[in-house]
Amino acid sequence: MHLLSRRRVPLISLVSLLSLALALVRPVASYVSADGTVVIPGASSYNGLNLVPQMGWDNWNAFGCDVNETLVLRTAERMVRYGLRDLGYRYVVLDDCWSVGRNETGFLVENPKTFPHGMKYVADTIHSLGLKFGMYSSAGVFTCGRYPGSLGNEQKDADYFASVGADYLKYDNCFNQGQSGTAQISFNRYNVMSQALNRTGRPIVYSLCNWGDDNPYDWAYTISNSGRMSGDVYDSFNRPDSRCPCTEAIGCAWPGFHCSVMNILNKMASIQSRTMSGYFNDMDMLEVGNGGQSDNEYVVHFSMWAMNASPLLIGTNVLTLSPANLAIYSNPAVIALNQDPSATAAVRKWRYFVDPDETGEGEIALWTRSLNNTDQVVALLNAANTSMMMNATMNDIFLDPRTAGAYQAPPQLSETWDVYDLWANRMSNAEAGAIINGTAMNLTANTNSTLTRYNATATSYAQGLLNNDTALLGLKVGSIAPGGTWSAMIPRHSVGLYRLRQRESKVVRRKDEL
Ligand code: GAL
Repeated sequence: MHLLSRRRVPLISLVSLLSLALALVRPVASYVSADGTVVIPGASSYNGLNLVPQMGWDNWNAFGCDVNETLVLRTAERMVRYGLRDLGYRYVVLDDCWSVGRNETGFLVENPKTFPHGMKYVADTIHSLGLKFGMYSSAGVFTCGRYPGSLGNEQKDADYFASVGADYLKYDNCFNQGQSGTAQISFNRYNVMSQALNRTGRPIVYSLCNWGDDNPYDWAYTISNSGRMSGDVYDSFNRPDSRCPCTEAIGCAWPGFHCSVMNILNKMASIQSRTMSGYFNDMDMLEVGNGGQSDNEYVVHFSMWAMNASPLLIGTNVLTLSPANLAIYSNPAVIALNQDPSATAAVRKWRYFVDPDETGEGEIALWTRSLNNTDQVVALLNAANTSMMMNATMNDIFLDPRTAGAYQAPPQLSETWDVYDLWANRMSNAEAGAIINGTAMNLTANTNSTLTRYNATATSYAQGLLNNDTALLGLKVGSIAPGGTWSAMIPRHSVGLYRLRQRESKVVRRKDEL
């Protein structure tokens, strides 16, 4: 077992502090540097990390407290073998229930039965696979699973996380001793760990998990890299649940849990402008693969999380992943939306309540998003009970209702746009099955030439987009001329997800410059 009390706690590294300071003051421009780093204008990351949303795996949704070293390390190996690491899923996050208490000097101690080689061994092994390691604690006296929390022990715990080699901390909200209720109180409590992590000198992505309490999207970007904006996700498409009472994010007094995909998605509508490079609204871990939703519903879930720049954390058992679910997690054209250097979330342009299903819920909606290279995303979402012919006019797609009438018409309205279907090249079950069986072609090579695979370790998404890599574009299915309308038949509980690209490469003003 790793005993931290016998080690020297790392002192602040002057070098890393200096480089952090430089990263924060360096004037930024929009480009991809030679080493593939994406540099984003206006990036506001408090610690220079997480300029695009974090991706990875977290055990909680599928395993709860049933965690151990073997599960974590076998999952990490499998993520490499299935090409998930190279698609960008880099963080392997160990959630709650890993510790047995504190040692005589007050440092956290991992459970020797479930983590017999100690946590540093876990981190080292994960690093040797080219992945990063995430850990969990709570800004309370206990974690939600009633293991020791970090409130009052922030620096010791941050030093522990740094000493074992953690690259990421998910920081929960249970047993907070009543230190919540106003933004200032919550900010102060979460800021103690933020400062403590910085003092370790180790780059550690700081992921807040206070379920949207006290509106973290208004303050957490100054001290963290992402913040949960809702109560816990549940593996249900749209089932209402009294344990998740809020339908809006802002001012939600009881975030609760058992929140459906549609409940969390619609909460994003009011806070989309509070997503930014370095701080992402975390819609919670993905349920794709856990069995509670249809294939179409999981496609909606994955698409809308990607579209809204939520962290993408696989929340299922990777060791038993089906070909269909691997194909959803592996769609590079959809992941490229999530990893777009714009770091923006989507706008819900319209929403109509129609045709409810057996849960009593039924709606259709249009979501759009402006991307960094002036491409535009359109999501026609049918959460009603039957197939719908859905339409998006040019005005729907490009006119921002907030500025309508106040400014001249957006120049995008007078252009012709080619439309690419982002799910058209979804990997077949046969191909995904071959990856799972180990009979597919080598995934570690740069396989970017195919339509279904992408290796972001070799070529970043930002660079791939500059290269017009076909795997990131989907399939061209039509175009929209000025004054036109995009129409598509969308099945029940499904989404039509399209990337629109200007036919001529004239430079137009971005929407946020209007
Ligand atoms: C919840 C959190 C979950 C999971 C769980 C662990 O509060 O939202 O994502 O971390 O605690 O007990």
